[in-house]
Amino acid sequence: MQGYRASILRFTDDASPVFEADGLLVVGPSGEGPRVVHAVGDHAALVGQFPGLVVEDLRGHIIAPGFVDMHVHYPQTDVIGAPAAGLLPWLRDYTFPHESRFHDPDYATEVAAFFFDELLRQGVTTALTFATSHVASVNAAFEVAKSRGLRFITGKVLQDRHSPDGVRDDTEQSLIDTESLIRRWHGVDRLGYAITPRFAPTSSLEQLRGAGELAAKYPQVWIQSHVAENLDEIRWVAELFPQSRSYLAVYGDFGLLRQRAVYAHCIHLNEEDRAQMARSGAVVAVSPTSNLFLGSGFFDYLAADTAGMRYGLASDVGGGTSFSPFHTMLAAYYVGRESQTKTGLSLTPGQLWWQHTAGAAQALGLGGVVGNVQPGCEADFVVLDPKATPLLARKTSQANSLDELLFALIVLGDDRVVVRSVVAGG
Ligand code: GUN
Ligand code: ZN
Repeated sequence: MQGYRASILRFTDDASPVFEADGLLVVGPSGEGPRVVHAVGDHAALVGQFPGLVVEDLRGHIIAPGFVDMHVHYPQTDVIGAPAAGLLPWLRDYTFPHESRFHDPDYATEVAAFFFDELLRQGVTTALTFATSHVASVNAAFEVAKSRGLRFITGKVLQDRHSPDGVRDDTEQSLIDTESLIRRWHGVDRLGYAITPRFAPTSSLEQLRGAGELAAKYPQVWIQSHVAENLDEIRWVAELFPQSRSYLAVYGDFGLLRQRAVYAHCIHLNEEDRAQMARSGAVVAVSPTSNLFLGSGFFDYLAADTAGMRYGLASDVGGGTSFSPFHTMLAAYYVGRESQTKTGLSLTPGQLWWQHTAGAAQALGLGGVVGNVQPGCEADFVVLDPKATPLLARKTSQANSLDELLFALIVLGDDRVVVRSVVAGG
């Protein structure tokens, strides 16, 4: 058993933030699995229950759940900041040419190692990640994540049409490869597999049908894709799939809307689409820095809540501009406020933080597993310094409420705030 004394931020089951000013977190083994949270609460109230506990004194710091990034492309680590006139030119001119390099296992491993270093440096301990269409890119990411003991999900991108040489895959082989990767990796240690059609325009009907069949055969496996990000993309999907009710409905028609299906963006949905998302159990990876950078549009939080959709936050690097959860939460606040295309609202700092931790975990079907520091959760957490910069020290020392403290961190925070990321209590 190991104790940590610090301020502690966690979330109740109904998404409310709880803050222990002088808290104690007790972490220890749990059978063969990763170390878990055994107890958490007020230091004075709890410490007597653990005689002889070794306690690391982190007073002055805040322990908080490790952040969960619901949608990121590890192979696009070097694509961040590529300028283009919107999504489709960005894919054609930067992303596809770059992703073609990931047939090389050594290259993929080098990028994966950098990517996980960077995630942890930024406080992200779990991610649902696109690989590329190359099997080598998937193996590389899983191998690095396994060696670091991370809870991590990825999958081979399926894209058998409207894609250039170098990233386009073969329909039949892509499905064979997907199934063998599921069998090799899903459920190994803390790893999970996601069936990953890139987006409807780059998959043939046969490939989407095959993906849907695998999704039915392996219900515990995740599905990830993109939907309703950009207006040009939506027009293209309408031409390619005239038989489907909408872009979102294409995925429903192929059996790709279900629990554990995660769709990035969901900006340009109609009411029927939102109802279909909620009904199916599919969830949204809201990707605000990407949507602002590529000029895609603004996620409508109020409409999503009204429809009963579930969602969480994502960096979507390299469309997204930062791995930092603080930058993503701030961008989500801007997106929420926007009121020219939808109703604007002010997300509270507790809501923003929840969407990137416990809420994201819950949306992934990993509630009570990661994304929180409650008893039973795997011990993935971050140690934050609320005085990491002169301005932060000044602002946080003046905070009169938890909201003010969390908002100061969201608005002014970045990697400098993250003193340590702890994975599985290690
Ligand atoms: N749609 C299809 N592929 C991609 C991608 O790599 N990034 C984003 N943001 N949207 C996509
Ligand atoms: Zn994406």
